[in-house]
Amino acid sequence: MIPLPQLDSNSDEPIYRQLHARIKTSIQDGSLAPGERIPPTRELAGLLGLNRTTVAAAYELLEAEGLIRGHVGRGSFVAGPNDPNLATASGAMDWEDRFVANRAPDPPVPVAAPGTHLISFTSARPAAELFPLTAFRTACREVIDGPEAVEILQLGSPLGYAPLRAYLQGQKRQDEDLLITNGCQQALDLLQRLFTRTGDCVLVEDPIYPGLRNVFAHAGVRIVGVPVGPDGLDVDALPRLIARERPRLIVVTPSFQNPTGATMPLAARQALLRIVREHRMVLVENDIYAELRYQGPDLPSLKQMDDSGETIQMKSFSKLAFPGLRVGWVTGPRPVIGRLAELKQWTDLHSDQLSQAVLLRFAQSGSLESHRQRMVEAGRARLHAVLSACERYLPQGSRFTRPQGGMNLWVRLPDPLDASELLPRAQRAGVSFLPGRYFAVSRQEPGALRLSFAGLPPEQIESGLAILGRVCQEELAAARAAQSAGLAPVIV
Ligand SMILES: Cc1ncc(COP(=O)(O)O)c(C=O)c1O
Repeated sequence: MIPLPQLDSNSDEPIYRQLHARIKTSIQDGSLAPGERIPPTRELAGLLGLNRTTVAAAYELLEAEGLIRGHVGRGSFVAGPNDPNLATASGAMDWEDRFVANRAPDPPVPVAAPGTHLISFTSARPAAELFPLTAFRTACREVIDGPEAVEILQLGSPLGYAPLRAYLQGQKRQDEDLLITNGCQQALDLLQRLFTRTGDCVLVEDPIYPGLRNVFAHAGVRIVGVPVGPDGLDVDALPRLIARERPRLIVVTPSFQNPTGATMPLAARQALLRIVREHRMVLVENDIYAELRYQGPDLPSLKQMDDSGETIQMKSFSKLAFPGLRVGWVTGPRPVIGRLAELKQWTDLHSDQLSQAVLLRFAQSGSLESHRQRMVEAGRARLHAVLSACERYLPQGSRFTRPQGGMNLWVRLPDPLDASELLPRAQRAGVSFLPGRYFAVSRQEPGALRLSFAGLPPEQIESGLAILGRVCQEELAAARAAQSAGLAPVIV
């Protein structure tokens, strides 16, 4: 039998991680023997007074590490003696013991059984079938056959490929500069290293893109969430949070935020800039989705609105075209870009120049703009499809956001539905999504989930939501049946 672990609710380490660590120790020191059955999530949750999803998250991690195995219908068991993950007992290197980097705070994303055909709303990425491959191949050929090929294949500047930087600089001011990065993700990592130390506070949207949260979490930075509503970041909550937390940095995605799809109106953008200036805070604008507007009037970016030039803006080609090329950029005050370039140089010398040169050729030939227009048209049809399918298929009492662009939409299912518990059932039925817990900072919403709709054609969006709606209805019916069974009068 599993020894009941001691968990500390005041610790900074999430409870599911503590539970994972305790069970892992029991497996490694032999208190839990290979082949031994561990209690089902519901039972252990009951014994420990925890939410079932917390226990499920710990089990997912143990399973991902090969320490336990789940058998459908029979529960989970400690993995067998030949499992390489149990090698510490036989004297092999205990790698976990050597690692000093913090682990990602999220449990791994559950994957469907091999061979399952899934309609996947899981990933915020462009539709591969819309990639303009002919134009892209032409751009590749022109670059490789062109006179700059040798220079492109030689080592270059840490700031990025100069002709692409010149192309992207547009309206840049004299006191600003631009650094090419391996996507916005690397820009976030560099900004974290430049501006924050362990224990510092950063304000982010809640819910938030996990890749952003994890970069700061890894560095031991305190991440404080600012609630996101239908109009994006709740600007009114800022003064109180700033006074209480003294943050070093705030990161905001004003257009088509991930995961909610929300956009900040002009007045909220103006108010945000006022507050940031008043408190002399560093503002990072994540403008990765701005080119994908399907409805409504365009809004200026925070960077465009900021007369001081102090806003640091991140952009990327990833959402528009070819995320595999990993090309993004940061624009900001010269001293900031200079130091970011230095940090980048220590990491990877500079970003791949062939990708940059091909994207530049692709843009200069006009192909990027015509592709953007096609993406916007397709996105508009996909947004329309997801909104009408949500209305049609999600159970009564569901709420969902109404983005005007981007790739994501946020759904809140009615009580007592729990999106994490629903996911394995939905995957077996043929549809996948990401539960809200992957995006939570401090507000846990068990009924919330993200639908990334832009990568799916309208017919699949419709079919996927029909399946999800059916799974929700079945789960609700089961919950109602369990409830009425529990409420049956006691016979005395
Ligand atoms: C809000 C947000 N920021 C950053 C990224 C990372 O983008 P990139 O591919 O440019 O690194 C993503 C990707 O999903 C995102 O949604």
